[in-house]
Amino acid sequence: MNTSVGINAIHFYTGNFVFSLQTLAEAKNIDANKYTRGIGQDHMSLSAHDEDVVTLGANAAYPLVKDDNSNISTLLFATETGVDQSKSAGVYVHRLLDLPKTCRIVELKQACYSGTAAVQMACALVARKQNERVLVIMSDIAHYDLNTPAEATQGCGAVAMMITANPRVAEVLPESGLYTEDVMDFWRPNYRKNALVDGKFSAEMYMKSLTHAWDDYVSQTDSGLGDFRHFCYHSPFSRMAFKAHLHLARHCGVKLSGDNISKHIDAGLHYNRTIGNSYTASLYIGLTSLLEHVDGLAGQRIGMFSYGSGCVGEFFALRVVDNYEEHLFKAEHRDMLDARTAIDHSQYLHYCAEPEPTDGEAHEMEMGTTGRFRLAAINAHQREYVIV
Ligand code: HMG
Repeated sequence: MNTSVGINAIHFYTGNFVFSLQTLAEAKNIDANKYTRGIGQDHMSLSAHDEDVVTLGANAAYPLVKDDNSNISTLLFATETGVDQSKSAGVYVHRLLDLPKTCRIVELKQACYSGTAAVQMACALVARKQNERVLVIMSDIAHYDLNTPAEATQGCGAVAMMITANPRVAEVLPESGLYTEDVMDFWRPNYRKNALVDGKFSAEMYMKSLTHAWDDYVSQTDSGLGDFRHFCYHSPFSRMAFKAHLHLARHCGVKLSGDNISKHIDAGLHYNRTIGNSYTASLYIGLTSLLEHVDGLAGQRIGMFSYGSGCVGEFFALRVVDNYEEHLFKAEHRDMLDARTAIDHSQYLHYCAEPEPTDGEAHEMEMGTTGRFRLAAINAHQREYVIV
C-alpha cells in the first residue's frame, strides 16, 4: 500500500510594505480598473531593505519548527531571487531556525516552478524514509523595471511547508503531468536586479504549458475537470488564474460561465490579490488562501498548476485531509497582512531607486521589518542575518 505523503503544515510570510495599485494608477493617470479588474490585483507587497528571500523564508518557516525541529532531514529552498551564486539561501535559514546539523540543504531554481519540484522531491524523500520530515521553503521578490507593463505585477512572499508521511493538511497525490520547452518568455540575467519579460508571450506559454501538462496528467489518470472541486494556479496576477481556467475548460470541451470559474478558483486568490507575484511561493500562497477560506474541503481533490517561465509546467493534485482546518494559520496570516505599512507613490519611487550595496564596504541596513529575522548588514561582501 502506498504511504500517504504530503503537507503537514503550511505558513506564509510577506514583505513589510504594501503599495496600492489604485495609487499607482493615479500616479500614471490611468483607469485603476485596468489593475483591479483587468489584471485583478489590489496591492503589491514590497520587502523592506532588511528583508530578502532568506529573512522572508525564515519568517515563513519559523512557526513550523519553533516547537519541534526534530527529524528534519532536508531543507529544500526554492527561489529565483537567490542572494548568492554559490551558497544556498537555505544554509542561512538553517542557522536562523536552529535546525539539526544532520540536515541536507540545497537551493533549487527554475523560475516560479522550482517550488513544485521541491515539493515532489520532498515527497519522494519522505516516501523512502517515513519518519523524516522535509522542510520546503519557497521565497521570492518580484521586481520589474518601472514604467513597463510588468510593473503592476510586482510583489514578494515566502511560503514554508513541512512535508511528512500521514500529513495533517493535504496529501500530494503521486501522478503529475509535465511540460517543458526552451523559450525566452521571462528571464533575469545574473547582472540584472530586475527580470526581463515578453509579457504577452509569457501568458501564451503559460496556457500552452497548462494544456500540455493537463493532457499528460489525463493520459495517466483519465481525469476530467469534474474530478476537482477547486483549482489553484500559479498567479503572477489573479486574472491569469481566471484566463487559465477558462482556457483549460475550453480545451476539455467544457462550457463554464464566469460564475462557475469563480467558484473553482476565487477562494485561492484572496492573498495573491494583495501580495502580488511571489514567483515560487505564489501557487502555495494560493493554496493557503483556498484552505483558509473554504470549509468542508476534507476528502476533496484540488487541481494544482505550477508554471515557471523558460519554461516548465506541472499539473498535479492534492487530497485534503480530515480536520485540516485545525492545522492552519488563518488568524496569523490575516494579522500579518493587516500589519504591513502602506507607502505612498513617492516612497515607492524612493524604494525602487535604492540599490543594494555591491562595493564590499560595511553597510548597516535600515530597520524596516517587523519580522523575527532581518538582514542587519552587508560587510566585506558577507550578509549578516540576525534574530530580532
Ligand atoms: P499590459 O500590456 O499593460 O496589459 O500588461 P493589457 O493592456 O493587456 O491589459 C491587461 C488587461 O486589462 C486586459 O485584459 C485589458 O483588456 C484589461 P485581457 O484582454 O488580457 O483580458 N484592461 C482593463 N480592464 C478594465 N478596465 C480598464 C482596462 N484597461 C485594460 N480600464 C501583462 C499585462 C500581464 C502582459 C504585464 O503586466 C506583464 O508583462 N506582466 C509580467 C509577466 C507576467 O506576469 N506573465 C504571466 C505569465 S508568465 C508567468 O506566470 C511566470 C512568471 O511568474 C515568472 C516566473 O515564472 O518566474 C511571470
